[in-house]
Amino acid sequence: MLSVKNIHQYYGGSHILRDVSLEARLGKVTVLLGRNGVGKTTLLKSLMGLVPIKSGSIELDGKPIHKATPYERARAGIGFVPQGREIFSRLTVEENLRMGLAYKSAGTPIPAELFELFPVLRQMINRRGGDLSGGQQQQLAIARALAPRPKLLILDEPTEGIQPSIIKDIGRVIRMLADRGDMAIILCEQYYDFAQELADDYLVMERGEVIARGLGKDMEAQGVRQLVAI
Ligand SMILES: Nc1ncnc2c1ncn2[C@@H]1O[C@H](COP(=O)(O)OP(=O)(O)O)[C@@H](O)[C@H]1O
Ligand SMILES: [Mg+2]
Repeated sequence: MLSVKNIHQYYGGSHILRDVSLEARLGKVTVLLGRNGVGKTTLLKSLMGLVPIKSGSIELDGKPIHKATPYERARAGIGFVPQGREIFSRLTVEENLRMGLAYKSAGTPIPAELFELFPVLRQMINRRGGDLSGGQQQQLAIARALAPRPKLLILDEPTEGIQPSIIKDIGRVIRMLADRGDMAIILCEQYYDFAQELADDYLVMERGEVIARGLGKDMEAQGVRQLVAI
């Protein structure tokens, strides 16, 4: 679904992403691991077009997208759940979900399925985003990204600062979405156990480079836990 080849990215003079390549397969969860500051968020933002890359290529479904704007990439089928959630705190849950449909034709309904995945959002539909708990906001951010039915869903540290019961719910939703087979998922995580449970494929980054990769089932044997231990 997604094929990234040899990308390099700089913030000013600092070389942040160094020759990063990755594939995200349809129906699979690709987990991206690495300690703080290694470039995970920068990589995900560059996939979404939120930071420019200097060289390399990004293909979605066989089509190059690395010159496309974030808006065009969203239209092409990428859903992005940013680190820290970035929901609109003054808007209601319903309005936040509508923002996820902003580039669809006017009047596109909010898919009812989102409320089956996250029933709490139905109860909270008229509440402001800012009045939700951190976990509920994360569920809202995921639902907002799912609203236009993306082919590729990118999640940047969805468990950060969230209570365990909601982490479990989010994990179940991620697995279920992948198992339906019509979406590729890239999950960036620092919470190793959560990442390992969901990983079909994994990548480990260090200082802007991919230093290890493989199948999720081999993560433990290949010592990934130690590689990312703080
Ligand atoms: N907007 C920015 N301008 C300059 N440097 C940045 C910016 N954002 C991140 N960085 C730097 O890029 C590196 C990678 O950051 P980031 O991608 O956020 O890492 P991670 O998500 O793995 O914690 C860090 O050294 C960070 O300080
Ligand atoms: Mg980050």
